[in-house]
Amino acid sequence: MNVFLNKTIVLGVTGSIAAYKAATLASRLHQVGAHVHVAMTDAAAHFVAPLTFESLTHHPVLRDVLALGADSEIEHVSFAKRAHLVLIAPATANTIAKLAHGFANDVISAICLDTRAPILLAPAMETGMWENAATQENIAVLKRRGVIIIEPDAGHLASGASGKGRMAEPSEIIDAVRHVFALDGSMAGKRVVITAGGTREAIDPVRVISNHSSGKMGYALAEEALARGANVALITSVQELPIPYGANVTRVISTRDLFDAVLREGRGADVLIMAAAPADFRPASAAEQKIKKEAAEDLTIHLVRNPDILGEVARVREQNPANAPRVAVGFAAETNDLIDNARAKLERKGLDMIVANPVPQTFGSDNVKATLLLKNHTELDLEPMSKENLAAIILDQAENFLKQK
Ligand code: CTP
Repeated sequence: MNVFLNKTIVLGVTGSIAAYKAATLASRLHQVGAHVHVAMTDAAAHFVAPLTFESLTHHPVLRDVLALGADSEIEHVSFAKRAHLVLIAPATANTIAKLAHGFANDVISAICLDTRAPILLAPAMETGMWENAATQENIAVLKRRGVIIIEPDAGHLASGASGKGRMAEPSEIIDAVRHVFALDGSMAGKRVVITAGGTREAIDPVRVISNHSSGKMGYALAEEALARGANVALITSVQELPIPYGANVTRVISTRDLFDAVLREGRGADVLIMAAAPADFRPASAAEQKIKKEAAEDLTIHLVRNPDILGEVARVREQNPANAPRVAVGFAAETNDLIDNARAKLERKGLDMIVANPVPQTFGSDNVKATLLLKNHTELDLEPMSKENLAAIILDQAENFLKQK
């Protein structure tokens, strides 16, 4: 789902060395379908030429607070009106101070004072300036007024020093913008719990039993639900993938951790999607010290069954629906008799829908073949597609189930 399409973003660039990163931002926002209109302070134009932004966005850059547009309207007024969102990146300490005090003596402060659109700021400055009580009080004032602050990172600064004050990376800023656009999406106000990744069961302090699940499907689902405005709880055992912006994350390792987290987060949730691959068995007891090979020629590990999480969710849904998710979706990755096995699981686990994936095509790959089995016996046999596209189809179905409840 592309929440950027045909959105007008006013990108305000102020005078910091991080202005060069604003060119990347402008380019990416333009590429994902937004109309990007850039306004720059004079100081910003010393760092990066307006022509850079004009070439990237295909729109003229506004620099003069008194400039008139083609229709003889003051340009900063028309920028303020047409913006779906105003993003100031980088935002200097000076601009932040002006916004906190309601100044309107350059294009950016004038636009911010006039607009009704949400305002996002990505501050960039020396650590001393950022930590100064004046800046912190200005930031607090702006936050109170609803301005969204994309916190600066800590790290290397242009001065050679190291500390907090680096502008957030363009990818993080774009995620923050996406998050704001999603707030009035089709799942706004809905609470969606998504699990991702294979669990790990300890054999000893260095070894685990696990499986090939990469977690990519769960993360694609979380991204899509966030883009639709849902409040997403992501329960994950994955360490390698970046956390989707705006998701509330619970990290788990074992199936029992996952069990506890799902039952807790699932209470009163609108949708639960179990994309995780929980280990069904765990060693009866994990060795306290590393098992040494000299100790024996062969090794037998006694495994015991882990709880069936969806089985327990089904029980709670039946006995105490207020404490359970309203819609439950599971996955079935099978090597044989895919549809029959998946249908049996749908019934056994009391699901609204199950996503049946053939193994070995599924694990770790970016494209998947899936059949959706619905509890009303409908079967949707889908062509192989990206996990992102499959996530959208799964959430369309989940939304349908919610409407029927
Ligand atoms: N699942 C679960 N709890 C488990 C194991 C799996 O809730 N202990 C969930 C998975 O997240 C998935 C669905 O149940 O959504 C089916 O998982 P799968 O491993 O295919 O099924 P199992 O119930 O483990 O059955 P089997 O191992 O016999 O195929």
